[in-house]
Amino acid sequence: MTQALQTNGRAAMGHASGGATDEGARGAAPASRQDVPYYRTVANECAVFETAHRLRLPLLLKGPTGCGKTRFVAHMAARLGRPLFTVACHDDLTAADLTGRYLLKGGQTEWFDGPLTRAVRMGGICYLDEIVEARKDVTVILHPLTDDRRILPLERTGETLEAPDDFMLVVSYNPGYQNILKSLKPSTRQRFLALEFDFPPPEVEAEIVAAESGLELERCKPLVQLARRLRTLEGQDLEEVVSTRLLVYCASLIAAGMAWDLAVRAAIVEPLTDDADVKQGLVDVVDAVLG
Ligand SMILES: Nc1ncnc2c1ncn2[C@@H]1O[C@H](COP(=O)(O)OP(=O)(O)O)[C@@H](O)[C@H]1O
Ligand SMILES: [Mg+2]
Repeated sequence: MTQALQTNGRAAMGHASGGATDEGARGAAPASRQDVPYYRTVANECAVFETAHRLRLPLLLKGPTGCGKTRFVAHMAARLGRPLFTVACHDDLTAADLTGRYLLKGGQTEWFDGPLTRAVRMGGICYLDEIVEARKDVTVILHPLTDDRRILPLERTGETLEAPDDFMLVVSYNPGYQNILKSLKPSTRQRFLALEFDFPPPEVEAEIVAAESGLELERCKPLVQLARRLRTLEGQDLEEVVSTRLLVYCASLIAAGMAWDLAVRAAIVEPLTDDADVKQGLVDVVDAVLG
């Protein structure tokens, strides 16, 4: 069974075995400030999320990898005081991985809720990361949950769960991977409100990198400049661009005392490419910007 990563798992903790009752989660007060993961707001995304949650509408987050989508959802779930169930989708992920299955326990078969079912029962937020990676039967079970029925039929147990008002489905995908086979079907995507994510403006990104790494802001700014230069190379030789995540890694290495050229090599150049020529090209850009 897919392991649900329970960020903000305080309320969810007692339900790890799947025998979900809704005490604790339902009455959960909004998390206090220090329990809320740091998220630097870039535009009006928090307001959109809050309104979508209030109106019981599902939300799709689009954007490149490492630009803050997962952190945003963790932040919003904590702000709203809802337990979060995050599932990283992959091409073997089945509907049963989300809904649950019967497993053998002490010679008996027992039903175990999957993360989606737990989120529905508890009025939590279910976040399906990289939804396009999942098999088609996964999107089928999402349909009755994402229209005004808001139900999750569990064929195996014969139950039909009605999602409580607090339940919210959030999915993400990266439109940058230009793969026709792996784009969302219109019948699925038209059920979601959508927010586009991108790398933040340079001064905001530097602030994020500083906050996350502990490196002084002034020393983060040139790293952000470098990333922006490297991002212009996308599509030529690079499939992926430098993410905010890689910048945070790089700054963390420098904050830990590593020389900047080594840090850039380990956190930016090597993760982006295996090709020797492309690597040299990146190093040239690094030298031009930081050298
Ligand atoms: N707006 C932001 N506020 C705080 N941290 C951010 C923000 N954007 C990116 N980050 C940092 O970048 C890292 C990667 O972001 P993440 O949410 O995992 O990306 P995604 O889910 O889009 O791939 C985070 O762990 C965090 O350190
Ligand atoms: Mg993510």
